[in-house]
Amino acid sequence: MSIASRARGALTLGLAAVLATAGVTALSGTARAASTLGAAAAEKGRYFGAAVAANHLGESAYATTLNTEFNSVTPENEMKWDATESTRGSFTYGAADQIVSHAQSRGMKVRGHTLVWHSQLPGWVGGLAAADLRTAMNNHITQVMTHYKGKIHSWDVVNEAFQDGGSGARRSSPFQDRLGNGFIEEAFRTARSVDPAAKLCYNDYNTDGVNAKSNAVYNLVKDFKARGVPIDCVGFQSHFNSASPVPGDYQANLQRFADLGVDVQITELDIEGSGSAQATGYGNVVRACLAVSRCTGITVWGVTDKYSWRAGGTPLLFDGNYARKAAYTSVLTALGGTSPGGGGSAACTVTYAKAEEWSDRFNGRVTVTAGSSAISTWTTTVTVTSPQKISTTWNGTPTWDSSGNVMTMKPNGNGSLAAGASTSFGFTVMTNGTTTAPRLGGCTAS
Ligand code: G3I
Repeated sequence: MSIASRARGALTLGLAAVLATAGVTALSGTARAASTLGAAAAEKGRYFGAAVAANHLGESAYATTLNTEFNSVTPENEMKWDATESTRGSFTYGAADQIVSHAQSRGMKVRGHTLVWHSQLPGWVGGLAAADLRTAMNNHITQVMTHYKGKIHSWDVVNEAFQDGGSGARRSSPFQDRLGNGFIEEAFRTARSVDPAAKLCYNDYNTDGVNAKSNAVYNLVKDFKARGVPIDCVGFQSHFNSASPVPGDYQANLQRFADLGVDVQITELDIEGSGSAQATGYGNVVRACLAVSRCTGITVWGVTDKYSWRAGGTPLLFDGNYARKAAYTSVLTALGGTSPGGGGSAACTVTYAKAEEWSDRFNGRVTVTAGSSAISTWTTTVTVTSPQKISTTWNGTPTWDSSGNVMTMKPNGNGSLAAGASTSFGFTVMTNGTTTAPRLGGCTAS
């Protein structure tokens, strides 16, 4: 090969490399943003999970929402001691296995929750003297972790071992009271020996900002790291409401734990409230996790408000009818995703609430909330169950399908909403003997 043709070859190669680079850049620039929580989180190298109850998996809207949106699950109650070893030495895994196989067959990860906890603890455990209790604790960890070996990415080995308030002291429990401070270390050492591949977490609540309780956990982790006691992660439950909002130092607190050399995970996130205040809280939590490189994933404590442990506080991302809430849009946007149907960044969410009720009819109110960008108009649908009929509407422009059961609602006049702002429309449903709540379709914005 001549020098000239070698030079040409090199030039061609160089050009191809430039084009390839340009092509990749162009492709990623025009690629559709992820449109589900799990896919958007995966693009950021995180998982996005939900606590799941085995007895709801047969409900199709529940399973569809879970399967579509989430890529990690935590059994809400099914792996706890009272569920897995209610009688000493007799282990039952039916409900937890159901969740694990549901997840595994769909490529979802599983968090294990929880091995050693003072709550949901069968009575027999509290009746044991120290030596026997130690044997029982180690056997419980060994049996349950062996059963799930290779299937769990992270285990909450010990849950909620510290008191609330300013003392930073340990919480009284059979483990603490009979085995002393060393029970946590012993539990972690046993756990490591059983499944060396699982990440071992300490998990607690009211530790989300810098305070006496989180300082006590911080000191525990620091001591474990210094002495080589196995620990890989700290779970921040993150149950928030107006009395206990997302702390201003949430990110800083996650970061100080990460700086000790452990991963951090948001393990039981829920935020009571509604509309833009709730959406802002969720967005702040997600942004904090993304800003901490060792924050490896987020789990919300349930799929739908309907089955939340705090259902009255409507703390989750999907309402009782599985409609996406403003909080959902806020999370998806913070993760860098885009709502399906929301062209560009225009997006909205709808929520339903029953208002006045009489013997033959009730009023419904739908709140429409813009996502993280301003919108110029919106559309949603309300479906009632035959023989119900909608007799009146206000603050919207309705059209109807041929059955008369599906109402498409658009704004009455100007439909623009600022980012995160809400409007509402209302209607009266004649029950004709059926009181089923109306179902909302998705919200489309432009
Ligand atoms: O399944 C029984 C049902 O058969 C019975 O009829 C009914 C009557 O009370 O109880 C049902 O069990 C309930 C169970 O949830 C399943 O719904 C228990 O009473 C109830 O105590 C249990 O509550 C769970 C709670 O932990 C117990 O401490 C919640 O679902 C669960 O969300 C909650 O989760 C905890 C985390 O594990 C740890 N961090 C805090 C978080 C919230 O409390």
